[in-house]
Amino acid sequence: GKGNHPHFMHKEIFEQPGVIGDTLQSFINPATRSVHLPGLPFDLAAIPKVTIVACGTSFFAGMVAKYWLERIARLPVEIDIASEFRYRAADMPEGGLALFISQSGETIDTLAALRYARSQRQHIAAIVNVPESTMAREADVVLATVAGPEIGVASTKAFTTQLVVLACLTLALARARGKLDAAGEAELALALADLPSASAAVLAEEPALRALASHIMGARDVLYLGRGTAYPIAMEGALKLKELSYIHAEGYASGEMKHGPIALIDDAVPIVVVAPPDELFEKTASNLQEALARGGRVIMLSDAAGVARFQGQIEGAAAMPKIHPFVAPILYAIPVQLLAYHVAVLKGTDVDQPRNLAKSVVVE
Ligand code: M6R
Repeated sequence: GKGNHPHFMHKEIFEQPGVIGDTLQSFINPATRSVHLPGLPFDLAAIPKVTIVACGTSFFAGMVAKYWLERIARLPVEIDIASEFRYRAADMPEGGLALFISQSGETIDTLAALRYARSQRQHIAAIVNVPESTMAREADVVLATVAGPEIGVASTKAFTTQLVVLACLTLALARARGKLDAAGEAELALALADLPSASAAVLAEEPALRALASHIMGARDVLYLGRGTAYPIAMEGALKLKELSYIHAEGYASGEMKHGPIALIDDAVPIVVVAPPDELFEKTASNLQEALARGGRVIMLSDAAGVARFQGQIEGAAAMPKIHPFVAPILYAIPVQLLAYHVAVLKGTDVDQPRNLAKSVVVE
């Protein structure tokens, strides 16, 4: 049941500190601060390329992983949505690693893409939340999220635990390829270990996020902006808002704004800027400034120092706890979930069962 929560989605958002911790425990040894994957039927060091395929929110988890795998494991990564990938006839180098990300493990397009990758002699890894699912059965290796059953149609805890698994896989690949020494691995493993308490601190910001939701509920369109690993979080925030509140929302890479969408900005369009204090913060900050200069109504998600820089100029903000930039996309997924949730509650839509949507899309 829902316990004391008004909706399954709310319960699942609040389970995140626990299930992130459970998922970490299955991949990280806290004593040695090193990652261990289940026994693999192939050599991680010999992987020439990674291909990631998924749909919806699971696809955005894959987008974050692309940034991590390129930067930390120095691997070439290709990513696509499953409905496109399955018909592209992509040429895949033999012995590549093909990663399929799916909460249900049953999404028909992702499953078809998995079978295509099999025909291309890839090593197949499935990141699924349902261990008995079809994808789990057909994969060479299953990297399970330990999120527990997800009932709400809007994916929340499956997403953050997918990111945890992908972060651990990144560390394992980086180590195997000689791109990360023990000290580097320990630093990033420690950053991951901070997530359960940091995510609990984000949940304590729920009143601030509920207040921000009242600024969004009347909007017709909302823009979400981010750069680097915050870009997929902006995309995910926009998807959450669309599916739950039926408000049109777009996630955009901050730096792409001046190539078109900046024309949309006026005092009727809230702009949610996902700006963790990472290596791209200053770039995002200057895009935020451009939006302000055009009369944009900016809502900022950053840490206290980031928010303080724009206080008095922005319409609203929520301050996140300090966290290592590596794990920022995992933490910043939570405020965009809560924001969309509260907009939906204010609008009175059916939070756990939005119109026209199915929890798993098993027909094409
Ligand atoms: O079960 P899957 O992870 O394969 O599902 C993929 C998408 O259908 C799913 O993430 C969908 O986008 C959610 N409704 C998003 O909240």
